[in-house]
Amino acid sequence: MIEGHSLSKPALFRALGYRPHPGQMLVHRSQARIRVLACGVRWGKSVCAAMESVAFLMEPCEESKGWVVAPTYDLSQRVFDRVHMCLVERLKHRIELADERELRLVVRNLSGGTSELRAKSADNKVSLLGEGLEWLVVDEAAKLPRTVWENHLTARLVDKKGRALLLSTPAGANWFEGLYRRGQAGRDPEVESWQSPSWSNPLLDRETIEAERRRLPQDAFDQEYGAMFIGGSDPPCDVCGWPLAQYLTGIILTGSTKPVDCCTGCGGWIDKNGRTIVPQDKHGRRGYMKALMFVGHEGGLLTIEDCNQAARKKEEADQAARAQAETAEGGKRAASGKDWRASGDTGRDA
Ligand SMILES: Nc1ncnc2c1ncn2[C@@H]1O[C@H](COP(=O)(O)OP(=O)(O)OP(=O)(O)O)[C@@H](O)[C@H]1O
Ligand SMILES: [Mg+2]
Repeated sequence: MIEGHSLSKPALFRALGYRPHPGQMLVHRSQARIRVLACGVRWGKSVCAAMESVAFLMEPCEESKGWVVAPTYDLSQRVFDRVHMCLVERLKHRIELADERELRLVVRNLSGGTSELRAKSADNKVSLLGEGLEWLVVDEAAKLPRTVWENHLTARLVDKKGRALLLSTPAGANWFEGLYRRGQAGRDPEVESWQSPSWSNPLLDRETIEAERRRLPQDAFDQEYGAMFIGGSDPPCDVCGWPLAQYLTGIILTGSTKPVDCCTGCGGWIDKNGRTIVPQDKHGRRGYMKALMFVGHEGGLLTIEDCNQAARKKEEADQAARAQAETAEGGKRAASGKDWRASGDTGRDA
């Protein structure tokens, strides 16, 4: 679980029995100081929030403090309970204090330092005062008032340059959307953001989602399952010229498997002249695009989903190869007596 003085998340997640789906993997892997994830219901936000909290807790350091925040105690407690359960099941020997009434956990991290987690509710603003934090995880962030993020939570991160992960199903054109936009296409190097519909969770039954699509008004479905920001409209982009003056279908054909170029201003797809090729949807937002790629005579047509699937398979193969290399490296270290686990710790993490 440890490489030099830093944490290996893949190794930690393996030890916890957690297999992130590809969308969760992107979030866990990002090094951005502020990560913003807009995704559909049942996507796996709370699982992702809990596992990232465990990773923060295990990170080697002398001392660290972090919070899990949600709009209500009930919601933050769900993430807290998941973290607690995971530690009890897999890393029990590291728990130094678990106060379920105060929603406070203290653990011995991977370098023997002390890390603390507290779960907080945004509806109790007084409880959000006070300490400087190394990390912060906010579940259902879009449901928090702007003032809670801007006046209370960001202030907790200032002195220690703490990291934040905000996850939420969108809730219209509010501050959360603004932060999401900041994370797009290099606008702010400190922020990285993703948008991912519910059906990106491969464990979610596609038929259930389709039944919801039939049951719900289109806007409600687009927001709750499609993770779209409804209401307001996307700002024009002065780099690529979005929105397009004329109507365009949401399909492009490319002659190669090279990724489509993206605008440095808004992140939308652009043509070879750097002009936008993204259509506007009926809400005045950026519409969905689908790329169809020709891959030679025998390959026929590949959709972008096919390409993503191929990329995922490659990613899994790479991950397995890295895991194998890590295990071999760990074996070598243990054999030479330099492994930290071989000198003191009981090795119960593995
Ligand atoms: N990587 C994973 N491995 C196994 N199960 C997962 C994974 N990610 C999510 N799940 C499962 O998917 C379901 C939804 O996960 P979760 O509750 O985290 O989603 P959510 O986005 O927080 O949902 P909600 O919108 O209801 O708050 C749960 O049953 C959870 O256990
Ligand atoms: Mg949740």
